[in-house]
This record gives sequence, structure tokens and C-alpha cells, in this order.
Amino acid sequence: MSGKTWGGRFSADTDKRVEAYTESISYDRRLYIHDIHASKAHATMLSEVKLISVDEAKSIHQALDEIQVQIEANEFTYSTSMEDIHSHIESALIKKLGDVGRKLHTARSRNDQVATDVKMWVREAIAQLQLKIRTLQQAFLESAKENNEVVLPGYTHLQRAQPVLASHYFLAYIEKLQRDSDRLADCRKRVNVLPLGAAALAGTSLPINRDRVAQLLGFDSVAANSLDVSSDRDFLVEFLGCLVQIALHLGGWSEEWILWSTTEFNFIDLPDSFCTGSSIMPHKKNPDVLELMRGKTARVIASLTHLMILVKGLPLAYNRDLQEDKVALFDAFDTVAASLDLAAPLVFGTKFRHESIKARLEDGFLDATTLMEYLIQQDIPMRSAHEAVGKLVRLCEQKRCKLADLSKEQYEEVRTGLSSGVYNILGVSRALRAFRSFGSTAPEQVASQINLWVDRLS
Ligand code: ARG
Repeated sequence: MSGKTWGGRFSADTDKRVEAYTESISYDRRLYIHDIHASKAHATMLSEVKLISVDEAKSIHQALDEIQVQIEANEFTYSTSMEDIHSHIESALIKKLGDVGRKLHTARSRNDQVATDVKMWVREAIAQLQLKIRTLQQAFLESAKENNEVVLPGYTHLQRAQPVLASHYFLAYIEKLQRDSDRLADCRKRVNVLPLGAAALAGTSLPINRDRVAQLLGFDSVAANSLDVSSDRDFLVEFLGCLVQIALHLGGWSEEWILWSTTEFNFIDLPDSFCTGSSIMPHKKNPDVLELMRGKTARVIASLTHLMILVKGLPLAYNRDLQEDKVALFDAFDTVAASLDLAAPLVFGTKFRHESIKARLEDGFLDATTLMEYLIQQDIPMRSAHEAVGKLVRLCEQKRCKLADLSKEQYEEVRTGLSSGVYNILGVSRALRAFRSFGSTAPEQVASQINLWVDRLS
């Protein structure tokens, strides 16, 4: 059996079609650096417990360094006959070192090796995502500061509801993204548990020191059940869940800005460099980046679904099905990372159309709820206040006017005593200033949240 690390038991070469069908080198080669680092730590540990000599460990380290250089210089030869990155690196090592190279896989299986490499990769992916999230939060924070005078209509059911400061709107996404980042940090706790040393599924009879490997590779602890390690992919389900949530947040925001960039809303002007034109309609400026960000959410959800279906019903322990986990993992990560990378400059480049927003701000009774709350403060029971304002709104709709346009008499007609002081509360900007609860869009609340985030994100 030419070159196969497991060839001893076989009398015939693997069918080429089988090699092509079962390979993972085409996509798992991106684990090379983690495979090399994990192998170096493993070799160090093997020498410390005297399963190999110190000199042998040194040679293995050196040869692995050379392999790293070859890979990074694009001088490494890949072949589907060698299946995956783990076999490739081990075979290259054996080619360089002969019998010494043949010792590296002592007390190790590809099952715990692949889990270790993937966990190290995910650890790094988490760090990268957290940086990208932070950059996007900073972009939103800049916009919050830049547009701090702007009042937006806030929506529920996509119907005008209550006024909100534009800064409050941006802070909403900063909060969502913070949860995404915190979720990743929490996921990392379960990622950062060392699989290596579980061997194939049952552990090993050799005197290894797993704590030492964990220490060398920066893992917080060592997985306590070898059978669990060999089959565990729930850390990936969890990680992809985190990615899905980021994609969902980006997708919702994209949808909002797609709407806001329409002639109908006319709230924002997207940067030309982030839009595309039409091949037939000369006037078009399409928000394709945002549309794809919304669209790619499907792909990330599909990756999570892919992974869940993959592990559904798998018996313990390792099953070859698990090789397909990385297809979903890499695609979901690449997609979310690319979306985050584009989101930040898009936010930085977008201008709010202040005049256009302001021109229609008094439409849609954004001050109605504040008026109701004012009446509550005049000792009118909440339900009665709600009903009274409802009647006033109906009247305004008949007369095609705003609440502030109704006369004192019209207020008194709906309920005696109603007109007193109402004109001090009506109109969007007065209504906005009336807010006071913690977490509300009250200008002082928003200002203090901005200060807090300036500190947290600097
Ligand atoms: N290429 C495999 C994977 O990525 C490596 C593990 C193979 N283990 C095995 N016992 N065949 O999952």
C-alpha cells in the first residue's frame, strides 16, 4: 500500500475513485498550521514522558518547521491518495526523518488529532470574529455620534410607532453585536478543552501527559472522556449557532437599510462604491451588497442545518461522516467574516438624509403614545387615556391633520379637562424629550449610553 499511514492491513491499492470520494485535503489543508503546532506539542510531551528521545523530538520539531515553510511557499505537494492534511504532514515527516518520523503518531489517533486541530482553528476564528464585530460596533458608534441630532421614526410592524434618536437606533445594533461577541466568548469555553490524548476512542495504554499538551497549546483543561471526544462536534454546532445569530443580525439590518435607501423612505444615501447599476436602466443604484448580506444568511443557516443533520443519530464514537463538518464550518465562517468586513465600511460611507427624514417626521402620530402617558400623569386611568387618544387620532385622520393641530375645544369634546397642557407635549421633538426611563431614547439616556460605549470600544 503505497504511502498510506494505515496500509499494513491491506493487500490491494485503494480505488482511485474511492480516494477522490473520501478525500478532505481539498478543504482541510487550511488546518495545516494547527496540525503542525499540535504535533510539535505532542512530540515535546512524548519526549518528556520518554516515549521518544529529546533528540528525536528536536528532529520532529525541525522537520515540521520545514514542512510549514514548504506549505507557506506553495512548495508542498498535495495528493488525494493521502486523504487529509494530517496524513499529508505525517507522510512528509516520515519522508524526511524515516523511523523517527514514524514515531510521531504514538498515542494519537486522527480522531483526537482532527478534533484538536479544528478546536484550535475555531479558537482563532472566534478571536478574528470578535475583532471584526468590534470594528463594526465602532462604525455604528461613529454614526451614532455623527447623527446625534437626528430623530427617526421608530417602527413596530413597519408602521410608525414612536420617535427615536438616530443614536439610539445605532446603539441598538451595538448591543446586538455585543451579545454576538459575548456568545462567542462563551462558546470558546467549550471549545478550549483539549481532545488530544483521547486517541481513537478509548484512550491509550501509553504513559502520556495530557495536561502538559493542554498547557503547551493554551487549552484551559483536558477533555475527561475519550469516547465523548472522539464523537464531539457540539462545539461546532454551538459555534455555527453563534455565526447564524450574527448573520441574522446583519440580515435584519441589511433589510432595513435596503428599505431606507428607497425613494419611498429616502432616509439614507449608500456609498456609490458599495452599490451597483443596472445594465438596462441607466438611473438605477442598487444596494446589492446589502441584498447579498441578507441573502447569505440563508447560506449560514444552511451550514448549521448541514452540521446538525450530519451529527443527528450518529452512534459513538468517531464516524467518517464527521469529515464533512469542516465543509459547513469553513463556509459559514468565511461568509460571516466577509459580511462583517463589508458592513463596517458600508456604515462609515452611508449618509443620512436629514432633511428628507425631518420633512415627514410629524406624519404618523409618533407623539400619540407620549400624549397618552401625559394624560396618565394627569390622573386619567391608562385605558381611558388610551381610548381618548385613539379617538383624537381618528378625528385627525378625518380632518387630515396632526394631534397638535386640533383645537382646545376638540380636545375638550373628547373628554373634559383634556386640553390642559397638551400643547406642551405634542410634536415629535417635545414627545422625544419627555422620555426618561432607563434604556429609553431619552436624550440624556442615549448620551450616557454613548459615553459608556466610547469607553468600552476605545
Ligand atoms: N479525514 C478525517 C476527518 O477529517 C480524519 C479522521 C479520520 N479517522 C479515521 N478513523 N478514518 O474527519
